[in-house]
Amino acid sequence: MSELERKIAERILREGPIPFSVFMEMALYDERLGYYRGEPFGKDGDFFTASQLQPVFGAYVRAVAEKLMPGFACFVDIGAGRCELSTSFGDGVYRSVEEGQQIPKSQNAILFSNELIDAMPVDVYEGDVMLKVERREERFVWWPHGPVEDVREVRNAVSKHLHEAYEAIEEGFYILIDYGYRKLERARFASGSLMSYRKHVASDEVLAEPGKRDITAHVDWDAVIDAATEAGWRVESFESLRASMLGLGPDVLEGLNSLGEMQFRTLLFSFGESFDVLILSKKKGPDFSGPSLVNK
Ligand SMILES: C[S@@+](CC[C@H](N)C(=O)[O-])C[C@H]1O[C@@H](n2cnc3c(N)ncnc32)[C@H](O)[C@@H]1O
Repeated sequence: MSELERKIAERILREGPIPFSVFMEMALYDERLGYYRGEPFGKDGDFFTASQLQPVFGAYVRAVAEKLMPGFACFVDIGAGRCELSTSFGDGVYRSVEEGQQIPKSQNAILFSNELIDAMPVDVYEGDVMLKVERREERFVWWPHGPVEDVREVRNAVSKHLHEAYEAIEEGFYILIDYGYRKLERARFASGSLMSYRKHVASDEVLAEPGKRDITAHVDWDAVIDAATEAGWRVESFESLRASMLGLGPDVLEGLNSLGEMQFRTLLFSFGESFDVLILSKKKGPDFSGPSLVNK
């Protein structure tokens, strides 16, 4: 049994079955033994993200940021991982924030995250019953039973995160990129969307080998939009990554393509189809409180 398995098993012995969010938090973010304390990214790791499609992804994000706030002086990459985007921004502009750190206070800033929300812990419900994690016969197992149907994941950490992000800046934008679903697409995930990644192989064995494999769940975009609005953000836009790229116009697209044809195509045709871009804004002044600009 690994040290982290023992730590989780001891907690279950003390407290009884634990919510999945507690298991996921410990598996991914235990301060010493959690999965993200290692090096999970890239060819030798467990998964790729768009941030490895450099310099194209960084240039795309920069172009979106420039369009929102020309000449911005502060770009904060939240959940920055290996900080690959830093090279796309000038000296002193790029700042990174990792799990356990505060978002820096600033007057004007572009906040940004790529695949942050999908890595935040979720609770798992089947109907109204919360499915928990128990230890039996030397293994972690679901309690009272595993997810089967009418399963939904609830990510309580999102609301706190969006409040903190809103409070951190006086004015600015928050660009969130991730994979997920809207209300009408929820039926695609009748038995939930929890997934585990190990050496580029996806599986549903989310309870096995905590600390040694990634655990993720699709983003419930409607829940994020509701939490954002409640925190005070205005929702500027929500569209696929592909639509967002095309919206930058032919000159920018040509520029991105010239930086790396392969990376550009992968971003537009592969990531572009399955990822979405949500843009939130915060502005000072009395007229800032309009309705969300995105249909529910
Ligand atoms: C899937 S990785 C994505 C990394 C990077 N953005 C990329 O595109 O490659 C998720 C990252 O979010 C970080 N993270 C998770 N929760 C966080 C939080 N509340 N605040 C800041 N970072 C967080 C993790 O430590 C990890 O580095």
